[in-house]
Amino acid sequence: KMRVLGLVLACSCLVTSGFGDISNKTFPETFKFGAATAAYQVEGAWNEDGKGESIWDKFVHEDPTRVKDQLNGDVACDSYHKWQEDIELLKELGVKLYRFSISWPRILPNGTPNKINQAGIDYYRKVINGLKEAGIEPLVTLYHWDLPVHLLDLGGWLNEDIADYFGDYARIVFKNFGDDVKLWATINEPKTTCMNGYGGGSMAPGLQLLADGVYKCAKVQLLAHAKAYHIYQEEFAATQKGKVSIVIDATYNEPASDSAEDIAAAETETEFNLGWYANPIYLGDWPEVMKAQIYNRSLQEGYSFSRLPAFTPEQVAYVNGTFDFFGLNMYTSLIAASADYPIGEPSYYSDKGTATTHGVDWTASEADWLYSYPAGMRKLLNIVWNKYNPGSIYVTENGWATNDTLADQSRIDYLQGYLSNLLDAILEDGVNVVGYTTWSLMDNFEWAQGYTQKFGIIQVDFDSPNRTRTLRESARWYQNLVSTRCLVD
Ligand code: NOJ
Repeated sequence: KMRVLGLVLACSCLVTSGFGDISNKTFPETFKFGAATAAYQVEGAWNEDGKGESIWDKFVHEDPTRVKDQLNGDVACDSYHKWQEDIELLKELGVKLYRFSISWPRILPNGTPNKINQAGIDYYRKVINGLKEAGIEPLVTLYHWDLPVHLLDLGGWLNEDIADYFGDYARIVFKNFGDDVKLWATINEPKTTCMNGYGGGSMAPGLQLLADGVYKCAKVQLLAHAKAYHIYQEEFAATQKGKVSIVIDATYNEPASDSAEDIAAAETETEFNLGWYANPIYLGDWPEVMKAQIYNRSLQEGYSFSRLPAFTPEQVAYVNGTFDFFGLNMYTSLIAASADYPIGEPSYYSDKGTATTHGVDWTASEADWLYSYPAGMRKLLNIVWNKYNPGSIYVTENGWATNDTLADQSRIDYLQGYLSNLLDAILEDGVNVVGYTTWSLMDNFEWAQGYTQKFGIIQVDFDSPNRTRTLRESARWYQNLVSTRCLVD
């Protein structure tokens, strides 16, 4: 009897609570559901129609063993040719927001404005027009890790001049597409690409410079973001009236116990994890605890200065306040304990093991870093909201890795739990989360993991020349949520 009642409630969402353990709640009418992808992970056509080489093209071609299955993004989901089919799928899901990225070398083959590739402009124009006709709003990322190789030859993200080139590129993109694109993300997950591309080397460009590379890269990417933000404000905001921010990835860090030491450990971890990029943009300058710890550590290692490059007061002011919303990628959580040393140090920098662990009862995914702890979503959203006062938050990525199955109940469980907590943050805590783009619309090239981890709510058959797309059970579940706005716990 109760089950039947539950189903009725699930369909109507008229009753907001009660009836045993069944409760349901509704997403606000203004809340935007969507899905996300990124250029190198889905487009393919790596050298077609005048596109320049990116550092990912180079990284995977130079040494295929850098990728787990020795495959690459040369064809990927073939979205360069199948973009219309992708839009049909977005329509079928019923979503009203699509987050995708523009490939810098498709627009500027050598990264500089000396040469604009018209075919690249035409491609994104077609996609944006197609989305517009479908009533789907674009949220466009300018940089999702595919730097033009020529700019790597100039030093890549270790050279502050790259921030100026990024500004030139951003200006061209704003000018061409800003009449139709009102939501922009400058750089996706700077932490991930700086740590793995310049610190440990598992991602392009594969440099293993440890802390020296990572912290320098962080500073240059923040300056690049700020440059693009200011260009938009000065040259485009008055007429185009869009919003610009960065996308920051973060974990929620749960203290291992109620002790003051463990609570402090979790706070430190959060500063290294979230504050590293959020603090300079939302509050000004690196977090104090990072400055202090990295300085001390640098002295211990024989340096006479901190390996964390300082911002000048002018640079602090230039970066501070460069946001119109908060773009948050949230997947997983960590448990932080004071017994672990050195707390807060990025793991590549730690010589004593990692500072954090996962909860024993958290479900594991197919990705070794990704565990399900749904409550972490609500807790992290509250931290972001209260600490950085961003006005509004888009959850620009959140998703789950499985094997190739179409019956992906573990993904449904994960999305259900995380979205339920996201909704509680809105309804119970007053956090202004306005949109959500799940990762990912479809299976794609998962960087150094190749095609071994499936993040799509839509399956892609990479063995078929056609790259056949098939909705998973989670896509059906999401479709229902998007149309009813009703979540049943
Ligand atoms: C973050 C990245 O932005 C995206 O490119 C990646 O595929 C997902 N997380 C999953 O790891």
